[in-house]
Amino acid sequence: MKVLVIGSGGREHALCWKISQSKGVSKIYCAPGNGGTQQVAQNIDMDPNDIDGLLKFALDESIDLTIVGPEDPLAKGIVDRFEEKGLRIFGANGRSAQLESSKIYAKEFMEKYEIPTARYGRYGNIDEAIERLKDFQYPLVIKADGLCLGKGVVICDTKEMAMETLKAMMEDRIFGAAGENIIIEEFLEGAEASLLCFVSQGRLIPMESAKDYKQIYEGDEGPNTGGVGCYSPSEHFNEELKARIDGEILSSIELGLKHEYLSYNGVLFIGLMLTERGPKVLEFNVRFGDPETQVLMPRLESDIVDIIQKAIDGNLTRGGLAWTGRSCLTVVNTSKGYPGEYEKGKEIKGLDELGQHIIVFHNGTEVKDGRLYTDGGRVMSITTLANSLEEARDSIYKDMDRISFDGMYFRGDIGKM
Ligand SMILES: Nc1ncnc2c1ncn2[C@@H]1O[C@H](COP(=O)(O)OP(=O)(O)O)[C@@H](O)[C@H]1O
Ligand SMILES: [Mg+2]
Repeated sequence: MKVLVIGSGGREHALCWKISQSKGVSKIYCAPGNGGTQQVAQNIDMDPNDIDGLLKFALDESIDLTIVGPEDPLAKGIVDRFEEKGLRIFGANGRSAQLESSKIYAKEFMEKYEIPTARYGRYGNIDEAIERLKDFQYPLVIKADGLCLGKGVVICDTKEMAMETLKAMMEDRIFGAAGENIIIEEFLEGAEASLLCFVSQGRLIPMESAKDYKQIYEGDEGPNTGGVGCYSPSEHFNEELKARIDGEILSSIELGLKHEYLSYNGVLFIGLMLTERGPKVLEFNVRFGDPETQVLMPRLESDIVDIIQKAIDGNLTRGGLAWTGRSCLTVVNTSKGYPGEYEKGKEIKGLDELGQHIIVFHNGTEVKDGRLYTDGGRVMSITTLANSLEEARDSIYKDMDRISFDGMYFRGDIGKM
């Protein structure tokens, strides 16, 4: 069978890598892919948002299964368009993608179905928002409603900072329409964890847990990034917590998906804060996470294409997923300047010197004339499986410095709790 993966990051490389191990697959295309995906797939030079073009490609090439990586094409309704033409596609439809593309929509969904989350207010008028700041203690959290490439959430320590943030989002419109409406919410304290679920006709089948690192600098300092390191499983996920998440969160989400006509076949990423008063939902994404996918795919022992086929047919069950008990860790190296403006086009060396046990997933690379160059802010996810998190960490950091490119940076504390 022929599979098309849409996207160009480390997530898509990890998916292509896992799909390439699937017995029934004869051909993998990745649109547009990167320097890493081309080791296991054929890159197709197409924009993930060019839905007409991708649809034509899938029809012309008789693609049997399409898997969507990024959120933008999902929010733009790529799944609905493919399904109209009778094509098999794995991802949230346009209606369900609102769970990610509108934080207000997601909060109202959580409120309606009594899914534990931070107390909040929603505002479309700056004067009212400023007036209501008094309902919250500091720090408080201000979130733009729409998609902001991970930059739309600000934790405010003081009233001055909150007023500045409201002004920037609602008056100066630094995020355009995405910040027209905003949320003010209570700050939650605790450990963060990501729980991705396969969604099979609206039923949730949880994957293993993961913990990602968002800030660019060690000790969680500095600005937020797309994610610069990750490991799985999260040490907090014991049987008690899993049961609590099942009972208090997953079952309520399933009920909500059904009642709101949001059923789909794809992935639901639940961002959690593990507070003293139990797990609470920070946000939903309707896609695989990056870098979570880079640590989940190596731990998944079952055939990913088989899982996705079953999910689409509505037959996926928890018994259909087998995971290795080993730990997986990834450390992402980044280009100089990231997450601000960053450099590109630097030659990457040393990949052939890495140990056998290291898996390199490419986030932003490009091959030109047989050489490999940086082509993104996040460049590569250096990944390994080991018997423990400590072992995985030791083995990665032994090899990290063998790789080199001009301006390379990575955190040295990934996997240290
Ligand atoms: N209510 C909250 N309390 C504490 N931290 C929060 C809260 N909401 C968000 N955060 C922090 O901000 C980060 C980004 O927020 P999130 O809702 O995940 O939005 P996005 O991923 O779209 O930027 C979270 O990963 C978390 O670290
Ligand atoms: Mg998030």
